[in-house]
Amino acid sequence: MAKRLDLKDVNIYYGKFQAVADVRLSVPPRNVTAFIGPSGCGKSSVLRSLNRMHEVTPGARVEGSILLDGEDIYGSGIDPVGVRKTIGMVFQRPNPFPTMSIKDNVVAGLKLQGERNKKRLEEVAEQSLRGANLWNEVKDRLDKPGGGLSGGQQQRLCIARAIAVSPDVLLMDEPCSALDPISTLAIEDLITELKKDFTIVIVTHNMQQAARVSDQTAFFNLNATGEPGRLVEIDDTQKVFSNPTQKATEDYISGRFG
Ligand SMILES: Nc1ncnc2c1ncn2[C@@H]1O[C@H](COP(=O)(O)OP(=O)(O)OP(=O)(O)O)[C@@H](O)[C@H]1O
Ligand SMILES: [Mg+2]
Repeated sequence: MAKRLDLKDVNIYYGKFQAVADVRLSVPPRNVTAFIGPSGCGKSSVLRSLNRMHEVTPGARVEGSILLDGEDIYGSGIDPVGVRKTIGMVFQRPNPFPTMSIKDNVVAGLKLQGERNKKRLEEVAEQSLRGANLWNEVKDRLDKPGGGLSGGQQQRLCIARAIAVSPDVLLMDEPCSALDPISTLAIEDLITELKKDFTIVIVTHNMQQAARVSDQTAFFNLNATGEPGRLVEIDDTQKVFSNPTQKATEDYISGRFG
């Protein structure tokens, strides 16, 4: 079930270094939000704070609150492993288990959760591969290794794996940066399909991609190295790209930096 996310006064640290300051934003359910901004402004850090992956780095911590349908994912008694199940993540480089079969790649998470029913696993594998627009290409080779697929197919396999556990939110950190233009368009079409069922946050360096796939766009910026990145503005994507409120946003999207 797609859920909403609300970030309030989020500050992100790596040890003493503050990477991101004072982020406030909301992500509505069944919506695609794009994070854009120059390298080092904290997009990935914010994304990783949304499913408690940030704290996996030693010394890294998050301050503030991040609410999933009103419940603080950093609340006391909340299990970070459970959070990572309901808020799934797709990474920059496709990372299937290369020697594991295509089918087993998709249901790996479900198996970890203890699902043993073979028929159920097969159903979920098919449903997820269909959901990731990959079924027709792999239905005759489900028992072949995931590593034998093309880069674009592997990324769709990773998306199938992420949606197989029915997350509430799907996070994607530059999911197309290792892909060719045709595979990229396939993933973009897929994102548009997936937003019917999921809440999606995507980090991208590709302005056209942000403009094509997202409903709202958040622009992050860095005033100077050593200072934390900040959210400059967040608004409807069309508004951000046609008539941004802040000059820094306009400079960035029109290719004038600084
Ligand atoms: N594991 C880490 N340890 C220490 N500092 C880190 C770590 N990861 C990121 N940082 C720092 O935090 C800041 C934000 O990094 P982050 O990766 O979130 O930026 P980004 O906007 O995703 O950049 P890019 O567009 O290059 O991916 C940077 O100054 C970076 O050097
Ligand atoms: Mg990044």
